[in-house]
Amino acid sequence: MQDEFDAKTVASVAGRVIIVTGGGKGIGKVYGQRLAEAGAKIVVADIDADANNITVGSIKAAGGEAVAVATDVSDPDATQHMADVAVETYGRIDGLINNASLMSVLPRRPWYEIPLDEWDSVMAVNVRGVFLCCRAVFPQMQKQNKGKIVNISSSRFWEGTPNRLHYSTSKAGVIGLTRSLSREVGEFNITVNAITPGFTLSDTQVASSGDYARQNLPDEIRAIRRHQFPEDLVGAVMFLTSDASDYITGQTINVDGGRSMH
Ligand SMILES: NC(=O)c1ccc[n+]([C@@H]2O[C@H](COP(=O)([O-])OP(=O)(O)OC[C@H]3O[C@@H](n4cnc5c(N)ncnc54)[C@H](O)[C@@H]3O)[C@@H](O)[C@H]2O)c1
Repeated sequence: MQDEFDAKTVASVAGRVIIVTGGGKGIGKVYGQRLAEAGAKIVVADIDADANNITVGSIKAAGGEAVAVATDVSDPDATQHMADVAVETYGRIDGLINNASLMSVLPRRPWYEIPLDEWDSVMAVNVRGVFLCCRAVFPQMQKQNKGKIVNISSSRFWEGTPNRLHYSTSKAGVIGLTRSLSREVGEFNITVNAITPGFTLSDTQVASSGDYARQNLPDEIRAIRRHQFPEDLVGAVMFLTSDASDYITGQTINVDGGRSMH
């Protein structure tokens, strides 16, 4: 290991094949675009086929490599197809960013008003979806004896933010999954880590949150006193999909401008 260490390339994602679920819109779109700028080959796997094609078009227009595969992450056949397309197109799977989620489409309301079917849908996408995507890429990563899985949780895990109780619960589940799975796949040099983004002004968040987004101004609780944007999360994702994080697994990196500290 020490002999293979190269300080010039250790933090690079150039040439890596990275799947971004929910990569058609919002923060996931920015992950795909920015990782492609850094030389990664991106598999854009959103449920929204039109959004996938727009993201892939923008990556290619900027000189990057990407392929679209419409994927409902809560569906085992669809997630298997996603992994198959990645391998058929690029021959391997180096990274999986589990970013797809039901979030911006959810109304904010008291916990006892959440309809049961909405609770179940959130768990199916935000928790089962992460499980199914990990399961779909695992055989290829195991074959490679290397892989990088990044699960997107939420700063709600630290803050206990009210009014989307199903969403908060699902994002806490993502952390439990991250920790236990990391121990089950570590022998294959597959790392599994989580990121907890703070309130981020993604295009979908701004469109759905309106006044709430405007009211949620940078405050003195945040060490970095400005709004959070999707690009603020890209560095952590690149770190966790590069060799620089090969000895880090089961961890949760909080990216919220220093609002919560732990
Ligand atoms: N924006 C924020 O303030 C914030 C804060 C903390 C965490 N996050 C997390 O970051 C991630 C991205 O956030 P965002 O603001 O872009 O969220 P978003 O809700 O706007 O976007 C999620 C994406 O997932 C896709 N998607 C939904 N259901 C899917 C399914 N079944 N299969 C595949 N794709 C599906 C949507 O089409 C969309 O493109 C999410 O996991 C979210 O929970 C966001």
